[in-house]
Amino acid sequence: MVKNKKEGKLLFTTDYKKTYAQSDVIFIGVGTPENADGSANLNYVYTVAQQIAESVERDCLVVIKSTVPIGTNDKIEAFMKEHLINNVQIEVASNPEFLAQGTAVRDTLHASRIVIGVESENAKQILTSIYEPFKQPIVAMNRRSAEMVKYASNDFLALKISFVNDIANLCEKVGANIEDVTNGMSYDERIGNRFLNPGIGYGGSCFPKDTKALHWLAEEEGYILRTVKAAIDVNEKQKYALIKKARNDFPTFNEKKVAVLGLTFKPGTDDLREAPSIPNIRLLLNEGARIQAFDPVGIENYKKLFPDQIAYKHSIEEALEDADLCFIFTEWPEIKEMDLDLFKKQMKTPHIYDGRNCFSLCEIENKGINYHSIGRPS
Ligand code: UGA
Repeated sequence: MVKNKKEGKLLFTTDYKKTYAQSDVIFIGVGTPENADGSANLNYVYTVAQQIAESVERDCLVVIKSTVPIGTNDKIEAFMKEHLINNVQIEVASNPEFLAQGTAVRDTLHASRIVIGVESENAKQILTSIYEPFKQPIVAMNRRSAEMVKYASNDFLALKISFVNDIANLCEKVGANIEDVTNGMSYDERIGNRFLNPGIGYGGSCFPKDTKALHWLAEEEGYILRTVKAAIDVNEKQKYALIKKARNDFPTFNEKKVAVLGLTFKPGTDDLREAPSIPNIRLLLNEGARIQAFDPVGIENYKKLFPDQIAYKHSIEEALEDADLCFIFTEWPEIKEMDLDLFKKQMKTPHIYDGRNCFSLCEIENKGINYHSIGRPS
């Protein structure tokens, strides 16, 4: 990518008017955050669409990468045609994005598929010629189907996680071990072995928003999307699965020194959007807990949310010092590979509540700690 910049193939600019005017293809990749009612906020998409319509000086294809409700591509095309200033032909195509945070470049260069939603042979031909060099499967369909592929894919993955969390909770009750259960399931190729990790729920800027947006959209159509609703409900409850366990040992967290390891919604990113750590920390603080937290990259962002209420620490060792209990919210490699003797050495009483099953039960045995995880025997 740096090479492309050096060779003049990649240019960054704030002069959108000039750039749009000269482009044959324009990709829109702005955010579509959640509105208070669960619907998708399309303000950014429309703002850009208007800027493009008012700037283009030659025929062009506008490609929407942002995750937008089904039917939005049609509406954006009509909206842009209304706002065109010059006498040019404009067409909109859908090209949903499947990359995950922290692995964006890899996911782009080695995508499982490239979905294009087009209404004309011309749009199909342009997008195919752009993506051909990537040598990945190109799947063409109409715009509405492409918009739906994005939501259906994310919601299916969210469902998979909520299902595993549901089964994990039941495993605890019936004396099964979710790790063995998912391992046993994963040999069936129809099920696969990915996105079967139980935990304290999915977070991030996509699954929470996209499940709610599709559920909202279905309701608008007079249809209740029961499976997606179940995924949302299970996830909401799962966020507090660890606190519930800790309550058995600590009826109140008031004045307790609580170590927190991991703040971000998943490893490999400093993103805190919908991170399960947030509602948990809020609850602990409201109850008067004294929190000392460690995260390899999330602290600076966390300070914006909780500037003074948390003692931020730069090592696991410091975060554990003198603590009554410890919560693990993110499975960072640093945490998974930590010296397990630190729990006993550093903490006042080593009660560990691991929301991401970071350690194997064998490793934990004989460490003299009180260890609780998700879906596995304590
Ligand atoms: C997700 C999808 O994985 C991408 O394919 C999609 O393109 C992206 O949303 C998007 O719509 O932009 P992302 O939110 O970055 O990507 O992260 P994931 O790796 O999917 O993880 C989401 C959440 O699920 C995390 O909180 C993670 O801890 C949780 N998770 C994931 C589990 O609890 N269990 C698992 O087995 C996997």
